[in-house]
Amino acid sequence: MSDNLMLDKDQFKIGFFASNCSGGMAVTQVPERWVNSWDNNVALAQLADDAGCDFLLPIARWIGYGGATDFHGSVLETMAWAAGLLALTKRISVIATMHTAFNHPVVVAKQIATVDQIAHGRAGLNIVCGWNKPEYDALGVELPADHETRYAYGEEWYQFVKKLWTEDKAFDWDSKYFHAKGVYGNPKPVRGTVPIVNAAGSDEGREFATRNANFLFTPVIDLERSKGEVADVKEKAASKGREVDVITFVTVVCRPTQKEADDYLKYYAEDNADWEAVENLVNLQFAHAESFPHDLLALIKDRFAAGHGGYPLVGTPEVVADGIEQIRDAGFGGITLAFVDYVKEFPYFRDEVMPLLEKRGIRKKQ
Ligand SMILES: Cc1cc2nc3c(=O)[nH]c(=O)nc-3n(C[C@H](O)[C@H](O)[C@H](O)COP(=O)(O)O)c2cc1C
Repeated sequence: MSDNLMLDKDQFKIGFFASNCSGGMAVTQVPERWVNSWDNNVALAQLADDAGCDFLLPIARWIGYGGATDFHGSVLETMAWAAGLLALTKRISVIATMHTAFNHPVVVAKQIATVDQIAHGRAGLNIVCGWNKPEYDALGVELPADHETRYAYGEEWYQFVKKLWTEDKAFDWDSKYFHAKGVYGNPKPVRGTVPIVNAAGSDEGREFATRNANFLFTPVIDLERSKGEVADVKEKAASKGREVDVITFVTVVCRPTQKEADDYLKYYAEDNADWEAVENLVNLQFAHAESFPHDLLALIKDRFAAGHGGYPLVGTPEVVADGIEQIRDAGFGGITLAFVDYVKEFPYFRDEVMPLLEKRGIRKKQ
């Protein structure tokens, strides 16, 4: 069995988000925007693995956001992506992102178990309970208008998956949304389960996450605000006798000088942003999800252009390390990174920022 780096409680985790999607996290038209080819994903995964990073997290997406680039119009399916990357890496954890409404629990339980066998225990599961109405329309599935129904469905879905991972004998399942006779799931994941990730902003979502997940993913708009939010999530989990780590996603523009970093941000996220796609993305987020606070819309539009709403870390290696330290000090257990071109830009972060994180005791020495 391999270690699953997501289970190391003493490490401030560094992962990558959305490399399976065209454009990655940057809603931009610049020619060097991220190409989500398989070869680019393998190159990033192996760079991240060799650098001692902890995990890769994909976005499950079925239709794009339009605009000049059709942002996220091309997306590698996350279970197949995870299986391939786990076979081609040695230490890093790779997570599959599954929509509860589009993927039957018996199938997902077996897929995750299979992928975890491929990886000798390095797989993870990100559970998505639904928000993107046009995507549901595209699949001909109804998105329940209320969060109670979405998360009640998600709860049954996950309880069914868990039962398949723990029960050796054939069993019947009879709940509101799922009915099965004589079902069982073998093999099991290597440890009987895998790290569970959930991203939710609503109260119902946070209840689901603190009940079921090991990690809650949440955006940071303002770090002061986040401190209370992180403490609240941890308290909610503790009241259920559980421990949940809170992780956020950041946008990195790291350059030798502040001016170079600022100029590049302006170039890709202002002058050459795909504003039509930003508009579509923001409108959709605000119509159906509660992940982003609704009172901070203007700031959020700029951040969506730069990195899908990720917290911006823009500047020299020292400035970027300072930002990560502040995120850690706010109570977060880790971050996902995104760059305009992950493969081209990550090596500078690896060589200049990661040693600073080790020196400051934020990351353990490799
Ligand atoms: C970091 C992060 C990752 C997410 N990944 C996906 C995803 O891959 N696919 C998806 O449809 N929704 C994704 N979501 C959306 C959430 O799963 C959730 O449905 C959304 O935040 C709305 O939650 P709420 O209704 O509880 O506010 C993600 C959200 C965040 C913050």
